[in-house]
Amino acid sequence: MSRAVTPSRHGDRPGSATARAHANLGLVKYWGKRDLELNLPAVGSISAGIEGLWTRTQIYFSPRYERDLLLWDQQKASDQATARVSRFLDLVRSKASLPWHAQVRTTSNIPREAGLASSAAAFASLALAANAAVGLGLDPGELSDLARRGSASAARSLFGGYVELPADEGDRCQARRIAPADHFPLEVALVLAGTQPKAVSSREGMIRSQGTSPFYPSWVSAQSADLDRARQAIMQRDFDRLAETAQHNCLKMHAVAMTSRPPILYPNAFTLRGIELVLSLRQKGVAVFFTLDAGANLAVFFALPCRDLVIGTLDELDCPVQLTRVGGEPALLEVGGVPVSPTGSGQKGPGEAEQQNGLSKREGDPRQPPEGLRPTTPDPPDGATKTGSEDGCAGETGDRTRKR
Ligand code: DP6
Repeated sequence: MSRAVTPSRHGDRPGSATARAHANLGLVKYWGKRDLELNLPAVGSISAGIEGLWTRTQIYFSPRYERDLLLWDQQKASDQATARVSRFLDLVRSKASLPWHAQVRTTSNIPREAGLASSAAAFASLALAANAAVGLGLDPGELSDLARRGSASAARSLFGGYVELPADEGDRCQARRIAPADHFPLEVALVLAGTQPKAVSSREGMIRSQGTSPFYPSWVSAQSADLDRARQAIMQRDFDRLAETAQHNCLKMHAVAMTSRPPILYPNAFTLRGIELVLSLRQKGVAVFFTLDAGANLAVFFALPCRDLVIGTLDELDCPVQLTRVGGEPALLEVGGVPVSPTGSGQKGPGEAEQQNGLSKREGDPRQPPEGLRPTTPDPPDGATKTGSEDGCAGETGDRTRKR
């Protein structure tokens, strides 16, 4: 949809806005493209927004700029990353009939290109900010369709909680929320098994898988059954059904990646040991499951009463662990210098300052955690500090989660 932004509406005044969006992780994964140019997914996907991983983007359009400039944590981004953002801004400029270039400044606590959905948070926050800066007036569904052009998983970050991106026919594809996070509150431990940029990008990996993995056709044909199961599990707060579906779907996606030519291997030794530990907990009836996107980092989802048991077990890995939960509502923070969100007036979301100290400043070996990255123990609600055996975490997890 093209909405003309006339000179009288904009004059020669710069347009600026700031927005925050969160990462989301695939519970039923997007892996494969139906249209490379329009970035349309070949399969539907379902994700969970991640409260503790976020990107804040400020955009400033001005007739004074000769080209787009992208700054990551105040450092000039690579030419490749700037070109990707520029291509995305071309879509915004064409919708708004606006010729101006922009400065884009991002701050994030997400390790870049490490399988923790940094591009999802980046393009969702950019779409939200750009829409407001030039006054496009897109609704959340239209914004999600716009964000998808930057990175398809970004379409899901326009909503918090549990979100589905269908593989619709046609040249549009919008995400929709299945349920807010508080419908089915789950905790998440991010096991940072490898936070360096991955060797094979998701885009490249998908293209290679489609062209070479003998399992790609069966991956695509089984996806709608996985989507149905996961959607129902979320609606019914059925932990075990969601756990079984998400783990199986994740392993299928990685089986497709691994059987591509040349092979694409995202998990490392820490990831695999982490998976073993989660599976051993599940065998004991603990309400926990794992997933990993296109990177080595493992996301471990669990019910709050199992927290001590899960963290104690993951401690064996000697990897940094960040505790967070399903959530991740995006927010528009300011437009033209004027705060727009009641909670965003200070430009920082809940926990934003603390989390920034954790992830975004880390360098080098992720197995050497910086201060503040070891398991944290946020104040638990309702005295939920008991261990699994004390409060029934082990053995009766499905019921317990359903009761919450
Ligand atoms: C493995 O959304 O990063 O994380 O559209 O090419 O930018 P592009 O890919 P991207 O792919 C994410 C794939 C995944 C699974 C998922 O998030 O569902």
